[in-house]
This record gives sequence, structure tokens and C-alpha cells, in this order.
Amino acid sequence: MPKPIYVLNGPNLNLLGVREPHIYGKTTLDQVGALCEARAGALGYTVVFRQTNAEGVLVDWVQEARTEASAVVINPAGYGHTSVAVLDALKALTIPIVECHLSHLATRESFRQKTYVSLAASGLVAGFGAKSYELAIEAAVDLIGKASA
Ligand code: DQA
Repeated sequence: MPKPIYVLNGPNLNLLGVREPHIYGKTTLDQVGALCEARAGALGYTVVFRQTNAEGVLVDWVQEARTEASAVVINPAGYGHTSVAVLDALKALTIPIVECHLSHLATRESFRQKTYVSLAASGLVAGFGAKSYELAIEAAVDLIGKASA
């Protein structure tokens, strides 16, 4: 059994479904977790799906993924735009990293159009709502396959 894909979620994503649904959709975080499990399962992987509002906890989980995960899918939420600490933790990984956002960052406020996480990730999926996570998992599995080929 391969190591799981860590799907890590940053601040305020616990409010998915009720927080600005016109931007982030009506799907709850639990439902997003179930979608990730199903998509990963179909591709032969399990997921560790977590959310935190605390920057340091996100750093700890990224560090944990260094030895415990096959890949990381991360929606850093607001910390993506501010956290050098999360970036530094991601840069210590040698496994694939896929950045994931529900909303289409490039069409939003200028401060959302860049993230620190992008400097460490292989690529970014954004703008497809909950579907972004499924696409990010597909990309992660693809990258795992390429890395071991
Ligand atoms: C988000 C986009 C971020 O700019 C924002 O701070 C979030 C959610 C997204 O998934 O679209 O909290 O990461």
C-alpha cells in the first residue's frame, strides 16, 4: 500500500459551504474530504485530509508529510498569500506538491493573484470549486508516477 496523499487545508476552510458561497461554493469541507477519498481511492491511494486555522500547525503537518506522505495537495487559503514559514516547510519536501484553490485567483483581488506556495508547488489548480481538489489529486498521482518511473 503506498503512503497516503496528504490534503492540507488552511484557515477558514472549516466554514466551507457557508462562507461566501458565491465565491467558494456550497460544498462543505467534509464533502470535499469525501470527494478526495473517492478520487484518490479510484487511483489506488488513501488520503489524510486535515484543516487548521493555525499557521504553525500547517507547518507541522507539512513537515510530517516529508516522511509520511506520497504527495501533498495543499489549499493554504489566506496563508498562501502571507506565509514564508509554510513555503519554507514545503521546500524541505522531496515529494510532489500540488497547490489547490476553490476560486479563480487570477480574476480576484491583486493580493490573491500570487502565493508563496506556488514557489514550491509543481503546479496549481484553481477556479473549479470542489472539483479543484479532485483535479489536484489526479495531478498528484500523475506526478508520483513520473517521479518513480
Ligand atoms: C482560497 C483563496 C484564498 O485567497 C482565500 O484566502 C481562501 C480560499 C480558495 O480556495 O479559493 O481562504 O484558498
